[in-house]
Amino acid sequence: MWPGLEVSGVVSAIGPGSRWRVGDEVVALLDGGGYATKAAVADAQVLPAPPGVPLVDAAALPEAACTVWSTLSAARLAPGEWLLVHGGSGGVGSFAVQLGKALGAHVATTAGGPERAARCAALGADLVIDHRSEDFVEVLHERVPGGVDVVLDVVGAAYLDRNLDVLAVEGRLAVIGLQQGSRAELDLGRLLSRRLTVLGTTLRSRPPEQKAEIVAQVLRHVWPLVAGGQVRPVVHDRIPLSRAYDAHRMLASGAAFGNVVLTPDRGPSQQPDQQPDLQQD
Ligand SMILES: NC(=O)c1ccc[n+]([C@@H]2O[C@H](COP(=O)([O-])OP(=O)(O)OC[C@H]3O[C@@H](n4cnc5c(N)ncnc54)[C@H](OP(=O)(O)O)[C@@H]3O)[C@@H](O)[C@H]2O)c1
Repeated sequence: MWPGLEVSGVVSAIGPGSRWRVGDEVVALLDGGGYATKAAVADAQVLPAPPGVPLVDAAALPEAACTVWSTLSAARLAPGEWLLVHGGSGGVGSFAVQLGKALGAHVATTAGGPERAARCAALGADLVIDHRSEDFVEVLHERVPGGVDVVLDVVGAAYLDRNLDVLAVEGRLAVIGLQQGSRAELDLGRLLSRRLTVLGTTLRSRPPEQKAEIVAQVLRHVWPLVAGGQVRPVVHDRIPLSRAYDAHRMLASGAAFGNVVLTPDRGPSQQPDQQPDLQQD
């Protein structure tokens, strides 16, 4: 597995029949290999860089947009429903909070600490729960007594039981991250009595034709919201590719709010004709 699932940049070469032109500003969902200054990608996994977003910051869009759109679609989120996003402070979560609101849902989210919680509120969340000082189940039982319709979960096993606790009748739990484990005990009786759904999904391992279909849907349904300013990439920092290790440490430490984007190195030793032209998230 090569790191780097998404990039932004300028098209430098095309294959026969491509719908892109050399010089187009684009973003792309890769199959890996985005930690590079050039990347090759299937035509159908490329999107036009959205207007109004700096090209560097646009590198933070494809993976979050494709992950969140495809997962909320699979979970059949409808306008007026309640969506709980765990980790609204993360790269995926910050996008999900905004997209949930733009799609007409009520959005609750969790974040670690008061400052991160305040920033989630600024993204538009209706209800923010500081998971370090509050129990999200208690807060939601009080504030959303009917339960939430969809949970977008990046925590995994440690939250399975409690996620089921906060779901409404016919609620859907969509697990996309396993930060706190992949194994947990599931009481199937709880699914039956409230007609709950538990689903899991991952973007990276999908075959190219599925990625192409998701990219097409994102272009149709999500890109207008990005162009309209309702959904923006949240970029905490931009760090040269040669310092990718520092970027990973920043993410692992929990210091980043949103995404960290890797940018091309522009050191003095670099000749102009060697200048790279991709940004990586
Ligand atoms: N399935 C897929 O297709 C797919 C695609 C992309 C990403 N993912 C997965 O999704 C997860 C998030 O990705 P990311 O890029 O957004 O990572 P990230 O930017 O590092 O964010 C991680 C998030 O998890 C939150 N978090 C950690 N522990 C938590 C807890 N106990 N309760 C609530 N929130 C908690 C953090 O919140 P605080 O720091 O505020 O505590 C932070 O917002 C990763 O596990 C990644 O592998 C899956």
